[in-house]
Amino acid sequence: MKPDRIHFGADYNPEQWPPEVWREDVRLMREAGVTIVTLGIFSWASVEPEPGRHDFSWLDEVMDLLGDAGIAVSLATGTASPPAWLSRLHPQTLPVTREGVRLSPGSRQHYCPSSPVYRQAAAGLAAELGKRYGGHPALALWHVGNEYGCHVQECYCDVSAEDFRAWLRERYGDLDTLNAAWSTTFWSQRLGDWAEVLPPRAAPTLRNPAQELDYRRFSSDALLACYRAEREVLRELTPDVPITTNIMGMWEPVADYASWAPDFDVVALDLYPEPKDPRAHIDAAFFHDQMRSLGGGRPYLMMETATSAISYRPPNRPKRPGLNRLWSHQAVARGADAVMYFQWRASRGGAEKFHSAVVSHGGADNRIFREVRALGAELAGLARVAGTRVPADVALVHDYANWWSLELDARPGELRIPERVRAHYTPLWQENVTVDVVPPEADLSGYKLVVVPNLYLCTDAAAAGLRRYVEGGGHLLMSFFSGIADACDRVRPGGHPGAFRDLLGLRVEEFWPLGEGERVTLTGGGGADLWADHLVPEGAEVLARYADGPLEGEPAITRHAFGAGLATYLGTRPDEATMRALTREALRLAGAEPVLAGLPDQVEAVRRGPRLFLLNHSDRPVRAAGVELGPLDVAVLEDSRAGGATEGGA
Ligand code: GAL
Repeated sequence: MKPDRIHFGADYNPEQWPPEVWREDVRLMREAGVTIVTLGIFSWASVEPEPGRHDFSWLDEVMDLLGDAGIAVSLATGTASPPAWLSRLHPQTLPVTREGVRLSPGSRQHYCPSSPVYRQAAAGLAAELGKRYGGHPALALWHVGNEYGCHVQECYCDVSAEDFRAWLRERYGDLDTLNAAWSTTFWSQRLGDWAEVLPPRAAPTLRNPAQELDYRRFSSDALLACYRAEREVLRELTPDVPITTNIMGMWEPVADYASWAPDFDVVALDLYPEPKDPRAHIDAAFFHDQMRSLGGGRPYLMMETATSAISYRPPNRPKRPGLNRLWSHQAVARGADAVMYFQWRASRGGAEKFHSAVVSHGGADNRIFREVRALGAELAGLARVAGTRVPADVALVHDYANWWSLELDARPGELRIPERVRAHYTPLWQENVTVDVVPPEADLSGYKLVVVPNLYLCTDAAAAGLRRYVEGGGHLLMSFFSGIADACDRVRPGGHPGAFRDLLGLRVEEFWPLGEGERVTLTGGGGADLWADHLVPEGAEVLARYADGPLEGEPAITRHAFGAGLATYLGTRPDEATMRALTREALRLAGAEPVLAGLPDQVEAVRRGPRLFLLNHSDRPVRAAGVELGPLDVAVLEDSRAGGATEGGA
């Protein structure tokens, strides 16, 4: 895919329609400015109706129709929903839940990620598609599977158990090391034989947390192995065609996307912000930043979003007029080189028939289509943005192993990563600062400020990297319950926070989680809740103390000069206004500038390549950077400060 335009398109499922509709579809696609479609996402049963017998006749015709119309194809391998015959002939490919229930076909993603039968059949289909369409002029991209782990993230069957053992052998080598990593002396869980190693199936009470954590890691790798099995086949057959799969922008730690990223030729995001949620655009901004960062700053594709209502969060509210345009521009502003929808034409039957599409049940003579068509024309005018980068000098550290482990049972308090990340990201967004979302081991040297929400679990390498960063002059803003555990979820010895005591210049004597509704006041104004560290400064300066509550008079927020840098630590959860003030101060000290200063509330500004995007997320007209913006309006201006280097896409 050449970075010569912002691509525009949709998932296209022509197998649900008779051939006369295909011609009408292509005509409407041209009218709407469609440049690319993802074809065949769920078409395994249509192209391989019986094991080994392929019927490509309909797909040949559609590929040609699209190619002749100048529409590029992101060709899916169709392996996310195995055909009925696979489950009938090989029932062991069906996934098993933690409770031991084997799931049935009749929905989608009904496969065990570790199943060699599934993996082989899927790779076989990918090979057939590669051979048949590898040289087709319309082929622009391979789309492998679909949203890995969206429904089945883990399988607990015997095949998975065996695969888990192999994974553990690879990671730990021998049982003694595994026993140490899993702290199995606790509750007499010592493993004396590999056959005793099991997935964390349903058990009487709390499971071994290290086993749970490793099962999440293993399951993420098992899904990745499915993707890789198909990718290898396609790479071999079509070395020049980029390969990807669509990953999900949502608040669930489905898989460790940071470890998947090197296997994507281009990152592809599915994003369904909730129209009812007044903060949806801030979450969306975060996921865009994450996707851009996963690709090392290269442009990514917004592979799926909705033109209007989705169909599984009742009540499913349509997007108000203008909202699709606004959110699509937000994607482009933050680094997307494509805006694509699920799906082109609304299905007549099936589970998602009430999901919005580009062409509705009533056809194309309606608001949704008209808005899409107008957007297509607008995006065609943004070709100069394609392939360019988005500068960011603040990083937010985000890690899946931390997420998985922090949310296990029996922690001192109830911390949820989505809430914790939002609490740190929102004030950055409000201050109009562009953020990269990076793993803890990332090279941080280019950032002016690094924000670390609740990094409970961290590797030694991550701890050393953060230390080096501050020592070398970096600025850090870190919140409570960080640096507590090692990569095996074992508490770091020597007092909390074991990984960061010298960096933060303090020790935490006791965790003091606050009860529901319990609030404390901070000296200097503002309040806090959820958590209170009983901390003892060891060199850190105290910025605020608890003015009341169980730790009255004790330090709550500190700052420590470490090497040439500065580390600010929040031992509690400040309220929103206090969090914003603290973030603003951290940005000021670090010298991190907003994209534009003094913007009205709910107006987002992003620089990308030669352009400055202004996005008004509010329902009122505003004036920003000398421009009038209506409610939900967008302006794309020439950026006088443009420095973004043009970069090749996939
Ligand atoms: C995605 C999926 C699509 C469709 C869509 C509906 O998760 O990839 O196939 O189900 O959601 O919003």
